[in-house]
Amino acid sequence: LAKKQGKVLVLTNITQLVTLAGSPGPRRGAALQELNIITDAAVLCSGGKIVAASKQREMLKHPWFKKNKKKIEEFDCGGGVVTPGFVDSHTHLVFAEPRLVDFEKRIAGETYEEIAAAGGGIKSSLAGVRKASKAELASRAEAALYKMLDGGTTTVEAKSGYGLSLESELKSLEAIKAAAKKWPGTLVATLLGAHVVPPEFKDDRAAYVREVTSKMIPQAAKKKLAEYVDVFCERSAFTPEETAKIFAAGRAHGLKLRAHVGQFTPCDLEKLLRHKPDSFDHMDVFRDEDLPRLAKSDTVATLLPAANYFLGHTKYPDARKLISAGVAVALATDYNPGTSPTTSMQFVMSAACTQMKMSPAEVLVASTINGACGLGLGDRKGSIQSGKDADLAVFDIGDYRELPYWIGGNACVGTVANGNLSER
Ligand code: NIG
Ligand code: FE
Repeated sequence: LAKKQGKVLVLTNITQLVTLAGSPGPRRGAALQELNIITDAAVLCSGGKIVAASKQREMLKHPWFKKNKKKIEEFDCGGGVVTPGFVDSHTHLVFAEPRLVDFEKRIAGETYEEIAAAGGGIKSSLAGVRKASKAELASRAEAALYKMLDGGTTTVEAKSGYGLSLESELKSLEAIKAAAKKWPGTLVATLLGAHVVPPEFKDDRAAYVREVTSKMIPQAAKKKLAEYVDVFCERSAFTPEETAKIFAAGRAHGLKLRAHVGQFTPCDLEKLLRHKPDSFDHMDVFRDEDLPRLAKSDTVATLLPAANYFLGHTKYPDARKLISAGVAVALATDYNPGTSPTTSMQFVMSAACTQMKMSPAEVLVASTINGACGLGLGDRKGSIQSGKDADLAVFDIGDYRELPYWIGGNACVGTVANGNLSER
């Protein structure tokens, strides 16, 4: 979506400017630790792009800066930390209501899969979305997007997936488009018609897969309502064979691919890698033999530890094993009513540090440039380099390691999204 271009803006008085400058591809292995921090820095933005990022005293000497001094708006970061705006590369943005019954059942000891099999889970979110108007869904989505922006997130991947009929999936995608118009950040829309088989098709799964491949995908693509197709590949949802069919249909209609894999049971990733998805999400469990091929591919593994936390799991994705194997790892919220009702990337980073033993540097790379790569946006988003989109987050902390350190808080005091400044 084309965004209104921000005016000329300079961010000054930055103790640590975490640029993450580097090549546009995803970072792996030791490169996941490289932050390229500039101390006592400033960032200059114009026309929605970053013009320069440097030491503040050098910035003041920049010829462009001198020439345009009068029309430059200044934001004083108060000695804080500035990072690239977070890229939340996995959210189920469109839903109608929280799922409090599931929440209480889980506290009482039932598992996610047991609750889902008994008619709770994703299916219990369908009625609300089916009866909601597009405007209602859009206004809920917009409210969530502003909470995300408040926490430093400037790029969001947003899925449909709680309608599961042609009409309500398209309505959900239209709601995403409507919300995107009212938000300064960047939205990437994903069709998740293949979230689960809805009750109407329970005796004919193949017919539902056809509904997805021959109606939802072609119409979402034709109306330019989605860039991606996602599938929940899991024993309670879709098989790897069905996922491969849906992938093929998505590609045939010019859509890019991503999938939920290995949330509860391991998946044959090789079968799916042939379709070159941009991301495999969750990866709580995986087969070790798939790792070398995954590491050689451009597919990013998007880990979602807030879902593990909220489901009360003690086991988290084995990030250390993935990183040592050379897999490109990203982090995202998985914002959704069933397994991860949070918009906070800071919480996600904290959980990744304490539960998955990722370092503060790694979680920052995973929440910015690697998330951008998982959305095919590595050349535009995720690092602070001249020519890239002006997407920045300002925090009132003195050291980037405080981002995952302060639990449950929000240190963000300002964001710049496509050049547009919002203060908290
Ligand atoms: O990513 N796993 C599938 N989708 C969501 C959960 C959806 C729900 O329970 O509403 C997830 O965790
Ligand atoms: Fe998800």
